[in-house]
This record gives sequence, structure tokens and C-alpha cells, in this order.
Amino acid sequence: MRLPERQLAVLEAASATDERTIGDLAAETGLKPETVTGAAFELRDEGLLEVTETTREHAELTDEGARYVDEGLPERRLYRAGKELGAADAPVSMGEVIGAADLDGPAVDIALSNFARKGLGSIDAGELSIDPDADPSDDPEMATLEALAAGTPPTADDVVDRLDSRGLVRVVESVTRAVTLTDAGVDALMAGVETAETVAELTPELLASGEWRDVEFASYDVEADAPPATGGRTHVLRRTADRVKDVLVGMGFQEMAGPHADSDFWINDCLFMPQDHPARTHWDRFALDVEPTDDIPETLLSRVERAHREGWGDDGDGYHSPWSADFAREIALRGHTTSLSMRYLSGHAGAPLDPPQRYFSVEKVYRNDTLDPTHLLEFFQIEGWVMAEDLSVRDLMGTFEEFYRQFGITDIRFKPHYNPYTEPSFELFGDHPETGEEIEIGNSGIFREEVTGPLGVDGDVMAWGLALERLAMLTTGADDIRDLHGTLADVEFLRTAEVSY
Ligand code: PHE
Repeated sequence: MRLPERQLAVLEAASATDERTIGDLAAETGLKPETVTGAAFELRDEGLLEVTETTREHAELTDEGARYVDEGLPERRLYRAGKELGAADAPVSMGEVIGAADLDGPAVDIALSNFARKGLGSIDAGELSIDPDADPSDDPEMATLEALAAGTPPTADDVVDRLDSRGLVRVVESVTRAVTLTDAGVDALMAGVETAETVAELTPELLASGEWRDVEFASYDVEADAPPATGGRTHVLRRTADRVKDVLVGMGFQEMAGPHADSDFWINDCLFMPQDHPARTHWDRFALDVEPTDDIPETLLSRVERAHREGWGDDGDGYHSPWSADFAREIALRGHTTSLSMRYLSGHAGAPLDPPQRYFSVEKVYRNDTLDPTHLLEFFQIEGWVMAEDLSVRDLMGTFEEFYRQFGITDIRFKPHYNPYTEPSFELFGDHPETGEEIEIGNSGIFREEVTGPLGVDGDVMAWGLALERLAMLTTGADDIRDLHGTLADVEFLRTAEVSY
């Protein structure tokens, strides 16, 4: 019989009478435990070895448990501090004992509840007394923590359970595998086994030389235990963005591109946002200390100015409020990517303007908001618009329904809304899958004539800005936007989160 080298090494190290663990075999053969495990399963499949598995539970210290081994359990520190302050003779104020014990934060509650539970003393009217008969050194919990720290298995299960519920130890399962030779294994060894060179990968060279005919291929055991491999992975938000792009391209949209820092003209003026609108003040906007731009098409500039001052269309009236071309030329970080829609709809980006047209972008926007569970100061907006001869609210709603359905979201709701640039306007809401909370996921509408007229657009334009992070919250179940990225994001979440579709 011919066997790959590692299988032969394991077979020779195994015994017909004694169980040998994977650890024993690894030590004896000098192979890695995972190599021995793989070989053992292969030999089992050949009928040469028997593999038994024993599952054991063992306790190990958590970080908090390990800390208490060094610092002492909080209740014992409380006891010691109380004793030094004479609380065995007369009650002492709690504040004083807690201060002397150097406890703060959650450690105070932990100390107080366990102090009472262990009968070390009592707490009454804000004062702590120590039971003179209590013996804190006779503490099975501390003894168990110390035993674990020293590598000795603990004996009392109930103490381990209590420490587990206090979060000081965790009980983990481990599988030990052991092998014995089968009769067939013994026979094979007696008859003599030779080593066969094994090849893990079929290469072009093996094929070309014909050598593949003579080599032994290593087989893969896809059920074997393997340490989890966490290599590089595309971030969940990037994956969501990529998925959004795929979906929109699939729906016939083309992608827009344009500057993050842009003139107020494209960000706001084209959108019929009055220059004294609150969103245009320094409170909301990240103004940049750079030279204003003169790269704005003059005709468009004057048409936009006219819309603001006098209105557009038969019954348009405008704002009759001050409007300054200098303000329009100033540069800020875009607060929405609707600036890109304006550039494209004006024809300034070079895109053809004949209806129908569909465009989108998934790009960053910047707002001087207050950071909270649903707001970041910079986030991704899924911008989009459709230009056609004749559009209605049903087209808008249908587009969103189709879009969100690709992400498994089938219960979006629309609420009438107000934007200076769309009429009618709708906010979109969805339900958070974990908390059930209704969260805003987007804003949309049909552009007013005051917007499309000056741009020279012939036809209707429906448009929207959807929040990518909110969509990712709905698909991953993250309930705080800061769990998705930034310092609070949990690495395990980032490793495992799926973008569902
Ligand atoms: N600009 C809007 C926002 O940031 C989104 C929007 C775009 C709404 C286009 C209507 C039309 O909320």
C-alpha cells in the first residue's frame, strides 16, 4: 500500500490498544495538529483508523475575571476598605467606603450587591456595616478564579455557574479527538506501507508533462475543523453601495460623477433654494476658504437668477428676496448630491438631454449635523433622477418599490413632504428589522418648473436622495449608524455582516 507521507506518519504513531489524541500524535510526528487531524480523517475514510471525539466543557477567565484575580473582587475590596474604616464596630458612610475602596462606575453596583449576597455585612440608610464574624478569605468564587488563573480545573460547578452569570468566566466547549488503529490498519502496517508523493494542486506543468498520471492527489476533507480565516473583506457599506449600483444599472440607470466641493450655484441655486434658506447658513454648510469659481455658464446663471427673483413659468412668482451671483460662486462641501443632478440636467456634464434619461450616483455628502444614532456628518447619498415626457407620483413610488424590493424591503411608506425644489415631495420610511422603529430612508419628489425651466429641461423629472447608511441599517440590522463605520463599529460585525438580497 502507498500512502501520503503525513498519513503514514500518523498511522505509524497510532496504536491498536491505546487511544492517542491528536495532540499526542502531533508531538510524536512533529506535524501540525490540523495536519494530523486531516490525515486521521483520511485514514478513517480508508478504514485504517478509528477516530473518537469527546466534547468537554471547560471554564476560562474573561478579561474582567482576570482583572479581579489581580485587583481582588470588588466586594472584597469594599469589605477591606470598610474594615479599615472601622465599619466592624460602627456603621461608616457608604461614600467614604467606596472612595477608600477606589471603586467607580459599574464596579460600585457589583461590589454592593455581592457584598450583601455573601453576608460580608449590611447596608442601611447609606451606611455600611461589616459583619464581624464574616470571613472574606473563605470565598469559593475567588478561589475558583485563582484556580483558573493558575490553570487548575475548578471543582464546584455551582461556583462556575455563578461566575459565568457574573461574566467573570466563560464556559467553552472543546472537542478532543483520539485515534486507534483498526484491524485493517494493523494489517496494512504489517504488510508494509510506502510513502506516495502527494500533490495538493493540479498545475499546468503536471498536465503538460503527463506526470499527473503517476502522482497521488491529496484529498480535501471539507468537513474538517479549521480555524476561521478572516482575511480582507470589502466593507459592508461599500458592498451595499456596490449592490445599489448594480441594482440601478439593472434598472437602466447611468452613473453620474462630479465634485465633492462645488459652488453654491450647483448645490443650491439651481435647486431654487432661496439664498437666505436656513440650510445655506454657516450652521449647516461646510464652507471652504477657497477662491469662488467663475466657471458657471453665464446664460444659465442669469436664468437661475431670474427664477429666484421673478419666478419661472406662467404663474411663477419667485422669492423677491436678495440674490447674489457672488454667493452662488462660493465653494462648499456639497450637502447633497443633487448638485450632480443639476450639472447633468443642465447638459453641463455633457450628457444627452432628450427624454427619457435615467441617472444615479452613490456618493458622499457633508452636513454640519449633530452626531447621533441616525446621523453622521458625512454620509452616502443614493441620488437619482428620471426624465421623461410625462411622469406621475405613481412612477416615483413604483421605482422605489422596485428598488427596495431588491434588498428584501417590501414595506416602505411615503409621507408628503416639502422641498423648495420639488412639488409634490415625499419622504420615505422603512421599519428597522430589529427595533421595529420607523426610520426615514429618503426624500424625493418631482422637480418644479423653477428648477427644470432655467436648466432647459423639456419634460418631467422625478428625483430622489436616499441614505445608503440607512439602507444598510435595514439590511444588516445595525441599529446605530455608528455601528456601521467609525471607531464604534464592531470588528466581528464587519467580518460577518451580510448585505442581504
Ligand atoms: N436633496 C434631497 C436631500 O438631500 C433629496 C432629493 C433629491 C429630494 C432630489 C428630491 C429630489 O434630502
